[in-house]
Amino acid sequence: MKQQTRIDRLVGEHASKLSERLLAHRAQLFPPDASKQLRRFTSGEVAELLGVKDAYLRKLSLEGRGPQPETGAGGRRLYTPEDIVALRHLLESGAKTPGTYLPGRREGDHLQVITVINFKGGSGKTTTAAHLAQKCALDGYRVLAIDLDPQASLSALHGFQPEFDLLDGGTLYDAIRYEDPVPLRDVIRKTYFTNLDLIPGNLDLMEFEHETPRMLVARSGNLFFTRISEKLAEVEAEYDLVIVDCPPQLGFLTMSALSAATAVLVTVHPQMLDVMSMCQFLLMTSNLLGVVADAGGNMEYDWLRYVITRYEPGDGPQNQMVSFMRSLFGEHVLNHPVLKSTAISDAGITKQTLYEVEKSAFTRSTYDRAIESLNAVNGEIEALIQSAWGR
Ligand SMILES: Nc1ncnc2c1ncn2[C@@H]1O[C@H](COP(=O)(O)OP(=O)(O)O)[C@@H](O)[C@H]1O
Ligand SMILES: [Mg+2]
Repeated sequence: MKQQTRIDRLVGEHASKLSERLLAHRAQLFPPDASKQLRRFTSGEVAELLGVKDAYLRKLSLEGRGPQPETGAGGRRLYTPEDIVALRHLLESGAKTPGTYLPGRREGDHLQVITVINFKGGSGKTTTAAHLAQKCALDGYRVLAIDLDPQASLSALHGFQPEFDLLDGGTLYDAIRYEDPVPLRDVIRKTYFTNLDLIPGNLDLMEFEHETPRMLVARSGNLFFTRISEKLAEVEAEYDLVIVDCPPQLGFLTMSALSAATAVLVTVHPQMLDVMSMCQFLLMTSNLLGVVADAGGNMEYDWLRYVITRYEPGDGPQNQMVSFMRSLFGEHVLNHPVLKSTAISDAGITKQTLYEVEKSAFTRSTYDRAIESLNAVNGEIEALIQSAWGR
């Protein structure tokens, strides 16, 4: 008789084998005592980030003003991410126009909550959210990134391995659950990125999807869609921007994030199947949000934009899809797409973004094209952020 396999045991066996290997793999990539650290930035890079001349930075350091750079190979002056923030404060204090070097909130400005959504996995949500969060942090905004995806790719990218590091909780779930929620501060982690904090995710988040319907049945007074916004209010004053990386589904988590949001980014890979799936997503979103709005949820947004991801300029059908979207949605499609690039996917393999990697690990032109496209996209978003504050 043919032997049957108990699927629960088999899958369990596979999971423990895989987990063991992944742990070993991680130990290789990041030795346990060396938590993830951010590289130094060359004075050229810092000058570009700050919008000043390299010569001016040299002058400042010669005059002993601001942080002193380290001297690296070939006499290159290198700054830490903390140095960049210190330089921002120094330059801001002498700036003619306020906000030139510290672009974040001023008196009366609201906290901006940007959610990155689409229910298609692989549409570039996490890549977009991570690069946006890190670039904004480098540009002087105080950023809180939230990983709302139980798959936790954003957390992994920032050195938190959900299956090993968060065994006793520590995700947003702890703060938004209906019973004994903890203060939001308890689940916020500093990252190795100055100005960037993270609330990691893991499978615990799924509990919110399971508990909410039960709660809805049991007592109708407790509104699920205000859970995230209420929690954010606890740390409101400490950040300029919150960037939420949503799971690839339209569950209660995503809906709660959308109710907390002041802006929405929809990532879309310009291919027929992806655009068709996005169409379904938009329909469902609209219906569900209509229900939330009727129940008193906040649906006022500063902006909504589609960002084209993994774009290949030489691909005819992709170009048609992009023109199609532009003709339908007009200004709601960002002008710049994120180019498909091996630099971005290769950096991802070592759990890094293009803002973290050493440029020298890549072919110059490949790196430059990719980072230029990311900077252009993030630049457009930062302009939207500024305009939402009336600037
Ligand atoms: N612009 C890009 N160029 C090359 N690879 C990309 C790009 N954007 C994303 N990827 C890769 O595609 C995969 C899915 O992207 P991801 O951002 O995780 O999507 P999502 O969060 O929507 O599931 C990842 O392996 C990522 O490295
Ligand atoms: Mg993702």
